[in-house]
Amino acid sequence: MHILLTGGTGLIGRALCSHWAKQGHQLTVWSRSPQQVPGLCGAQVRGIGQLEELGDVGLDAVVNLAGAPIADRPWTRKRKTLLWASRITLTEQLLAWLKLCEQKPQVLLSGSAVGWYGDGGERELHEDTPPVCEDFAAQLCGAWEETALRAEDLGIRVVLVRTGLVLAKDGGFLKRLLLPFKLGLGGPLGDGRQWMSWVHLADQVALIDFLLQQPQARGPYNACAPEPVRNADFARALGRVLHRPAILPAPALLLRVGLGELSALLLGGQRALPLRLGEAGFTFRFTDLDTALEDLLGRH
Ligand SMILES: NC(=O)c1ccc[n+]([C@@H]2O[C@H](COP(=O)([O-])OP(=O)(O)OC[C@H]3O[C@@H](n4cnc5c(N)ncnc54)[C@H](OP(=O)(O)O)[C@@H]3O)[C@@H](O)[C@H]2O)c1
Repeated sequence: MHILLTGGTGLIGRALCSHWAKQGHQLTVWSRSPQQVPGLCGAQVRGIGQLEELGDVGLDAVVNLAGAPIADRPWTRKRKTLLWASRITLTEQLLAWLKLCEQKPQVLLSGSAVGWYGDGGERELHEDTPPVCEDFAAQLCGAWEETALRAEDLGIRVVLVRTGLVLAKDGGFLKRLLLPFKLGLGGPLGDGRQWMSWVHLADQVALIDFLLQQPQARGPYNACAPEPVRNADFARALGRVLHRPAILPAPALLLRVGLGELSALLLGGQRALPLRLGEAGFTFRFTDLDTALEDLLGRH
């Protein structure tokens, strides 16, 4: 297959490139820094700065994951504009280009997050649950999904991947937590009762590959392990695997004052379940958080 990726240089994109390159697929990454693509994604992966550089080569699939990091800094108006443009405007550009393509790919797999549901409280969230609240992250994911779904009008199968927190050894959310936890300064956020839907990077790669290959798969899929945990249990599990105490709570008020609207992402949560992936026959390798963390961080 010839697969085009946006966000191919990111945490998930790099892991996908490594997986697909081993299987012999032809890979192209649309990037703001195309010259860095072979170094980041593998020597045989082509980087392009403009979609037009693809010319008439046929594509089989497009995987759309680009987006500025959502939890890196407070959501000022300027930051929100960037978060929006880097996902929605970029996906619109992709669609405009797909419209002109003579040989259209069969499938577009586009990113989203469990944040699509908003803060779900205690509710179990399935793919057919409507958004519970409309905070900024939910609006962003909603617009991202709606834009990608327009590719259905071009005869392209669209899969939407509502991803939970991706657990990886060398990046993402876990890497940021490691230093405070290793220093013994880790602990729950706020009251720690909020739910966290998580997924091991190996399962994230496997489920994206699975959904790409299933001709019947279309629409939204919760991409998270079947056993979400509460934030306090996550902190305890991380402390256990690192052999450090994880008892120092970060008070909700401090997070609200320090991070503003972004604090909603940490103090709220989602109890999302991967119902549709289960129905489609996908099996997770990591269903239990302790095993996933031990695999990534344990002293094997
Ligand atoms: N990791 C998670 O836990 C998680 C959870 C839920 C949802 N997601 C979503 O899934 C997608 C992939 O996740 P990831 O962790 O692999 O992301 P990542 O490591 O942050 O990489 C995202 C990629 O997006 C591109 N990008 C960054 N800023 C951009 C900007 N201002 N304009 C255009 N492109 C920009 C970059 O590619 P270039 O530099 O090559 O242009 C970057 O490699 C993201 O959109 C993320 O929001 C991730």
